[in-house]
Amino acid sequence: MAVASHRLLVDIHTHVYLPRYAAFLRARSNAPRIFTRENAEGKTEERLLILDGEPSGGRPMGPQFWDKVEKLNFMERHGIDISVVSSANPWLDFLPASTAHQLASELNNDLEEYCSSSPSAAGGELKQLYGFGLLPLVPEVTTSSLLDTVRQISALPHLKGIIMGSRGLGKGLDDDALESVWAAIQKARLVVFLHPHYGVDGKEWGDKENGHVLPLALGFPFETTIAITRLILSGVLDRYPDLRILLAHSGGALPQLSSRLASCIDHDPVVASRLKHDARYYLGKLYFDAVAYGSEELGFVSDVIGRSDKFVKSGSSAGASKGTGAATRRLGSRRMLFGTDHPFFPPLGGAEKWKSVVENLEAIDGVHGWDEVDKDGVRGTNALSLFGLRS
Ligand code: URA
Ligand code: ZN
Repeated sequence: MAVASHRLLVDIHTHVYLPRYAAFLRARSNAPRIFTRENAEGKTEERLLILDGEPSGGRPMGPQFWDKVEKLNFMERHGIDISVVSSANPWLDFLPASTAHQLASELNNDLEEYCSSSPSAAGGELKQLYGFGLLPLVPEVTTSSLLDTVRQISALPHLKGIIMGSRGLGKGLDDDALESVWAAIQKARLVVFLHPHYGVDGKEWGDKENGHVLPLALGFPFETTIAITRLILSGVLDRYPDLRILLAHSGGALPQLSSRLASCIDHDPVVASRLKHDARYYLGKLYFDAVAYGSEELGFVSDVIGRSDKFVKSGSSAGASKGTGAATRRLGSRRMLFGTDHPFFPPLGGAEKWKSVVENLEAIDGVHGWDEVDKDGVRGTNALSLFGLRS
């Protein structure tokens, strides 16, 4: 299917609460749930409460969270040609295993239907929708339930990956019980989108009223940093070198901390002997969204991705990049992909374009040392290769 003739824009970080899931949350009386209350103007509004004790009684919720027309109109308004849509947090984390299995299967079918039908915004350009499916990643689920669901997702033509939180089966992503799941995902060539939900212990945020700022700006990326670091330390990326993991929010603090991580590993021989490579090598095996809101941050992330080959430990380092800083930065950009986090971070003043989107596009445009090919890569062509899509 042909898309717009202008420069291609692919959004790989964009969410939906599918109608079946939203209905499920409406029927609940504790978090996560959707409830109604009267707002300051005396109007009834729906609110989304995804964590107990969430600041401000959660957040207002409208059709942009579930309605496909809203997604297509948002894409049209921002010139987005293709969206790879994922269910928003907290996925199925809070459910018993049998419910999680059934709901995963139903929601995967719903998402396939969402992506495959009427992909055109009202009066606008042709749009394409793809999706990340859900696995029933909850304690006590059976391996066969997980593997069945991996098979289901890989058989659905518009589902190109799996969105995953940090909890795994309750013990995190370094749990040995996930071994056959990583093997199956690698074999199916599905992309794992690793996304946070819990942040870090709320006690760290003190008692000042700071709304959602600290959990979202810091807690979310710290959670991702811990989850992917534990995965690296458990050797998953050594055992499954073709596993493709995309990190939300540009990998959180991992790029900034990767040399410190490498040094701590070096000073801990038990851990060092477990890993095939220096920790910095693994950053070059990962993918990073470009949801960082600043050119300098994007440039820095691409620097640390691009240098990763220098840290290959075993064998010869003949393949290591010996390029200049500029070449390294350009190389790193190949693993970075534009995203919006829609429908979160909406404009406050009713502006036509969302500030959160414009900022991320401007950030990509302003990275020092990326040429137009690199920027087009981050805006869209990297996603075509990662997900095996045609424009
Ligand atoms: N972005 C998300 O993906 N989830 C949230 O809960 C908030 C922002
Ligand atoms: Zn998100």
